[in-house]
Amino acid sequence: MNLTLKIWRQNNAKEAGKMVDYKINNISPDMSFLEMLDVLNNELIEKGEDPVAFDHDCREGICGMCSLFINGEAHGPDRGVTTCQLHMRMFKDGDTIYIEPFRAKAFPVIKDLVVDRTAFDKIQHAGGFVSVNTSGNTQDANAIPIPKHDADRAFDAATCIGCGACVATCKNSSAMLFVSAKVSQFALLPQGKVEAADRVRNMVEEMDALGFGNCTNTGACEIECPKGISLENIARMNREYLKASIK
Ligand code: SF4
Ligand code: FES
Repeated sequence: MNLTLKIWRQNNAKEAGKMVDYKINNISPDMSFLEMLDVLNNELIEKGEDPVAFDHDCREGICGMCSLFINGEAHGPDRGVTTCQLHMRMFKDGDTIYIEPFRAKAFPVIKDLVVDRTAFDKIQHAGGFVSVNTSGNTQDANAIPIPKHDADRAFDAATCIGCGACVATCKNSSAMLFVSAKVSQFALLPQGKVEAADRVRNMVEEMDALGFGNCTNTGACEIECPKGISLENIARMNREYLKASIK
């Protein structure tokens, strides 16, 4: 496949960025999208040019590092996959592909396609954990009976990889799908109920303080989420927040 790439280049958060055109030839449809960018970067390095900075780590859809907006869609045109799992067979020979970073006020650009998602870490630090006494008398989590339905829903929420596609795709740059997944994975389990009120209050307050927008029920986040995190989690988080507020 021969392609034209229009890629966002930006030196840092302070300087203005712009789209730059690149031609790339002989791309196999079996390559992943990131492998295609590797080919481009090898060519740029051989020509003595600055390679395109982009985030990646596992390249298996697990770590949540890859974060490209491709032809106007977070993680590109495929469904239920991250950018690293997207394959070039989703495109046609001769296509022009627009590649941009995840854009949101709370995710400043570090360089080119790499954004700073420290804001998600801060929300997690505000309450995305369970405090466990590890004195030696801790009850084995597997010994606590949990209804299968609750365990399944908690597990589904826990599959959120913190990629930020939900924020990037939301017209309000809302982080509510991410935060609600992190709240839900504990709210559904007995281990999470002890700190439930503090957790939801602290995480929601941190989310608001960091400049994420509010949810207006558009649902784009659920469609673009590579892990299929459901909007039901936002409804659960709102219920948890309401309960915590009137306690
Ligand atoms: S909810 Fe989905 S889109 Fe948002 S951070 Fe988690 S995995 Fe990514
Ligand atoms: S590189 Fe880890 S999810 Fe894409």
